[in-house]
Amino acid sequence: MKKNAVVIVGAGSTHTPGIIQSLLQKKDEFPLRKLALFDIDEKRLHLVYDIMKQFINETYPGLEVVVTTNEEEAYTDIDFVFAQIRQGGLKLRSSDEKIPLKYGVVGQETCGPGGSISYGMRSIPAIIHIIKMAKKYSPNCWILNYSNPAAVVAEATRREFNNERILNICDMPTAILLSYSKMLGLDSWQSLDPCYFGLNHFGWFTALYDKEGKDRLPELREMILTSGMTACSDKHHKDKDWQKTWKQYAEIVKDYPDFLPNSYLQYYLYSSEMVAKMDINRTRADMVIEGREQEMFAEHKKYLESPESYKSPLQEFTVFGDFIVDAASSIAYNKGERFLVIVENNGAIPNMPADAMVEVPAYIRSWGPEPVSIPAIPTFHKGMMENQLASEKLAVDAYFENSYDKALQAIAINKTVPSTTVARKILDDLIEANGDYWPTLK
Ligand code: NAD
Ligand code: G6P
Ligand code: MN
Repeated sequence: MKKNAVVIVGAGSTHTPGIIQSLLQKKDEFPLRKLALFDIDEKRLHLVYDIMKQFINETYPGLEVVVTTNEEEAYTDIDFVFAQIRQGGLKLRSSDEKIPLKYGVVGQETCGPGGSISYGMRSIPAIIHIIKMAKKYSPNCWILNYSNPAAVVAEATRREFNNERILNICDMPTAILLSYSKMLGLDSWQSLDPCYFGLNHFGWFTALYDKEGKDRLPELREMILTSGMTACSDKHHKDKDWQKTWKQYAEIVKDYPDFLPNSYLQYYLYSSEMVAKMDINRTRADMVIEGREQEMFAEHKKYLESPESYKSPLQEFTVFGDFIVDAASSIAYNKGERFLVIVENNGAIPNMPADAMVEVPAYIRSWGPEPVSIPAIPTFHKGMMENQLASEKLAVDAYFENSYDKALQAIAINKTVPSTTVARKILDDLIEANGDYWPTLK
């Protein structure tokens, strides 16, 4: 069995320990010959490595490990790039959330003006740069990208690279699948084959087949309508704030019982209620800084107290880590496993544009994803998707054309935004907040 060289880009991320743990636990399915960790922030990079090195050394004695802020070193002789950067850090995530809220509009990491447009225009150049470097030093490598906003990033990488050997992914549908499987008493998210269509953070499950081929969605819908979401997925998606999402989830199913939604639809279908629940002085970025990030710093403090005897923490299972390693393994060994991924439509959803980046099931082969095609989708879902797709495409146009007007259109057309006057105010504030992270819009 050939072995793999992986570089984690954005290795200082709070999610990196989870990825490393999955890589180590899946040593038999996806053996490593080299692990490189790359970040632009040297301190964070070493912090994560400090926490994980005991576990790495124990699992893979003698493994070649490269911990670097040097691009050539990071990307040379690599088979898989796992990218999960946050361009502008949590500080700009906080602005993305607070600026729209100031005008009574949803302030969210990946949804609405702060998500698809602000974070999108910031992420695009950084991801394009990473992919160029990866392809320069390892022309045959595969790039698996988690960096958000995945929908907008996927559209930009489609235009720039035709998405050759690039797969954009999101853990949300899989995390929701994990909740479903727990509620149905099944042992893992792989126990269900999902039928699903949409855009990233904007889709619907239409069927959930178990290994006997029985669609369990009707049974699950009844459970949700009667008792709500009684199981939540992994550690990441069950803190106090995420619990609110799972509560709202049952409300979406009550109003729209035909399919089961991606939880992110709450921001589009109940925008004003979501705004009413948000606090401009304490948005999700603040909670992450006080929560997940603090936990990581506290763990590092333990390491510093006694580096010699420190044992890497065994985290609770994370969908984020397992999903990316399983997808890479399906590519590396041509397994053809079925995952929900973001791909160019090309007829998979027949009544959506061919060049839309959609989220659908695909069989993952060594030559790439083979998407599953479905019958035409209903008017409601199609209308919602076309509107959101236009906003995402306009955000990417605004980036490539340096266009203020396209950026304004991207915001004004977004379902979360009530008027052009508000859109313009938000855009002007975002231009200021993003500074050099954005191109100069003309
Ligand atoms: P984080 O701030 O904890 O970590 C991000 C890391 O990226 C930091 O160490 C930072 O220094 C580094 N970084 C920033 N810009 C960089 C660049 N240009 N090149 C290399 N490294 C860079 O963030 P996080 O909360 O762990 O999230 C990381 C990313 O993963 C975000 O984009 C987040 O939205 C995304 N994410 C995506 C999914 C998904 O479903 N697609 C799920 C979870 C997280
Ligand atoms: C889910 C989504 C990601 C998103 C994350 C935010 O996992 O799929 O795309 O980045 O949630 O979670 P957080 O805890 O950082 O708010
Ligand atoms: Mn996601």
